[in-house]
Amino acid sequence: MNKQILSGIKPSGDLNIGGYGGALSQFVQYQHDFECFFFVPDLHAITVPQDPQQLARRTREIAAFYIAAGIDPTKSAIFLQSQVPAHTELAWLLETQASFGELGRMTQFKDKSNGKESVSSALFTYPVLMAADILLYQATHVPVGEDQKQHLELTRNLAERFNHRFGETFVVPEPLIQDIGSRIMGLDDPTKKMSKSNPNLSSYVLMLDPPDTIRKKFARAVTDSESSVRCDWDTKPAVSNLIEIYSVFANEPVEIIEKRYAGEGYGTFKKDLAEVVVDKLVPIQEKFKEIVDSRELDDILKRGAQKASEKAYDTLKRAKQAMGLVTF
Ligand code: AMP
Ligand code: TRP
Repeated sequence: MNKQILSGIKPSGDLNIGGYGGALSQFVQYQHDFECFFFVPDLHAITVPQDPQQLARRTREIAAFYIAAGIDPTKSAIFLQSQVPAHTELAWLLETQASFGELGRMTQFKDKSNGKESVSSALFTYPVLMAADILLYQATHVPVGEDQKQHLELTRNLAERFNHRFGETFVVPEPLIQDIGSRIMGLDDPTKKMSKSNPNLSSYVLMLDPPDTIRKKFARAVTDSESSVRCDWDTKPAVSNLIEIYSVFANEPVEIIEKRYAGEGYGTFKKDLAEVVVDKLVPIQEKFKEIVDSRELDDILKRGAQKASEKAYDTLKRAKQAMGLVTF
């Protein structure tokens, strides 16, 4: 079977190394083996209030990170969601097939709406737009972090339901969730996912943090009482999280890292970890700066949207025909 990948990172905050571990580092690896579509889900970002200037900036930034991290735009399509209107159109068709109850069970919606007096209806229907993103490209595989598993399950259910009611139209996609890096936790609290929405700035490392800031943040990172460098999520979650970050950034298995630091204290390990992260991020940051405001980026995004549109409109047309909407 032909393998196709689609994934994206929301431009809703400054990208941190959690998004790199769970998503971006995977994108770069898969581009060699799959036909890939990497997009910036800007329409997802506006489900919560955004400052328009900042949104535009962050959208360019995410696209620039894709390229800076090593995605080759001549191989993979890189584009902005809002440049391909088929996404919102298919989302509407799929909304007619999604039930109110199943959307209400989405934990991300519950988390994001919890305690808020008012949330947008788009925040509620967001997972259906995500399903449309994926199904439009007939993606066979979707690399995401652990937190997106439930949304992928909904996508699979919607695809199966649609195919059952209207005839084979969509490929039912598989999530690609790595063992290592798919759940990078906060440096201040290993029970909470590393997130750009955490008000504690030392809880996350940003992709654009200068080397000295990265070093300081890792030096401050919480550890566990027993002082061996060993991965055990049940009893040593803080150190396990740091070892996973090391593993993602050094591209080395956990066992090798554990062996290397057998008998060493946390101090040495945390210092080395900071250097491993700095060594990976500095070249990405340099490339990012070259590209983020360039015309070249505009051209890549335009070409990407063209390539994506061809595929997307083909699927959209088939879905419309299947449902009995008149197409010409
Ligand atoms: P977002 O920035 O929320 O659009 O997330 C982009 C991608 O990064 C999604 O695939 C998430 O699952 C993944 N991701 C976000 N935060 C983390 C984290 N702390 N650890 C691992 N993956 C993450
Ligand atoms: N919902 C994803 C997130 O919050 C972003 C996203 C939107 C996505 N559409 C997608 C990821 C399609 C993979 C495939 O991280």
